[in-house]
Amino acid sequence: MEGCAIADEAGQVIQITAKRYEYNPGTITVKKKGVPVVLEFTSLDRLHGFNCPGLGIRTDIAPGKAATLLLVPQKAGTFPFHCDNFCGSGHEDMTGTIVVTE
Ligand code: CUA
Repeated sequence: MEGCAIADEAGQVIQITAKRYEYNPGTITVKKKGVPVVLEFTSLDRLHGFNCPGLGIRTDIAPGKAATLLLVPQKAGTFPFHCDNFCGSGHEDMTGTIVVTE
């Protein structure tokens, strides 16, 4: 993330890959409420999406291009996310969880 301004202000970069029909890791643990982290997504095959309504963040994940989101969690808890670009027969099962600790 050299030269990336949002990475400079965040303490941690979490790398997540997306492919039919899973995210790796499927459970993303964010250390602490209020501490900014960068989520960096890479697709291994085709266009996917990342949408976490409970935290108000989403992005497209296109192959060949990293997608980054800055997350500053305001509340602790467990927040489901899902793919929101139709990607095939397993699209509805392409889900995961963000865990924000106190
Ligand atoms: Cu991946 Cu829909």
